[in-house]
Amino acid sequence: MIETIYRAVEKLKAVGGDKATIGLILGSGLGDYAETLDNKRFVNYSDIEGYPVSEVHGHKNRFVVGEKYGKTVIAMQGRFHYYEGYPQSVLSLGVRTMKLLGVQNLLVTNAAGGVNLGYKPGTLMLISDHINLSGGNPLIGKNYDEFGVRFPDQSNVYDKKLRAELKELATKNGIELEEGVYLMMSGPCYETPAEIRMARIIGADAVGMSTVPETMCAAHCGIKVVGISLITNMAAGVLDQPLSHTEVNETAAIAAERFAALVDLILKDLF
Ligand code: HPA
Repeated sequence: MIETIYRAVEKLKAVGGDKATIGLILGSGLGDYAETLDNKRFVNYSDIEGYPVSEVHGHKNRFVVGEKYGKTVIAMQGRFHYYEGYPQSVLSLGVRTMKLLGVQNLLVTNAAGGVNLGYKPGTLMLISDHINLSGGNPLIGKNYDEFGVRFPDQSNVYDKKLRAELKELATKNGIELEEGVYLMMSGPCYETPAEIRMARIIGADAVGMSTVPETMCAAHCGIKVVGISLITNMAAGVLDQPLSHTEVNETAAIAAERFAALVDLILKDLF
């Protein structure tokens, strides 16, 4: 596992990835943002021995290194998921690769179902905290002390100061941004209406199948995290209609411009 990370670091260094201070993980239907980076260089996951490749439609499976606002950014265009069958420790590879390249701030994004009844498809939610009901944890197994301690603190995984600054920036720039708790379930089934009622009772505002493992790994190794969920659908049972990945991708496409404006703001004025 460590060898795989070092292999990725070498490949990315060769295209200037070691200049990157900002990391970007782009969720379902949101990967196109990486195309807006200047002077793009690509490293396919399939060219890194030992790296997994996501089979989920809408994920491009590559690192993109590029510049924006005079800063070097390394983006994962497509991420791996627990439901694809990987142990969660595998989901740490990307973040740990970024850490060794020098990344200090990470933006994690995802498509999520709206649990909070005040939300609607298209709502952008700043993640204030998470609840891990995935059944796994990426830090189970050997602890690599070079990345962090065995029993990491989780009281501020979505950096409080950056959240406060971002809310102010969003307001100033006329971007509507809710703030709420993201609940991770394993997937790949969408949740049942009963599970969503439970999610609401225990304090979740959005539900999804990603982000939490990467965030835990980033917090473990001292990378500051900002998390953004795009609510692509109301969660199961809220509306009298079935959920589908097609709906998720369609809403993501419609909201792409607003999402990009928010990410631009984060890269330009926050990170
Ligand atoms: N549940 C879980 N994951 C999701 C959803 C959902 O409703 N929408 C997008 N990703």
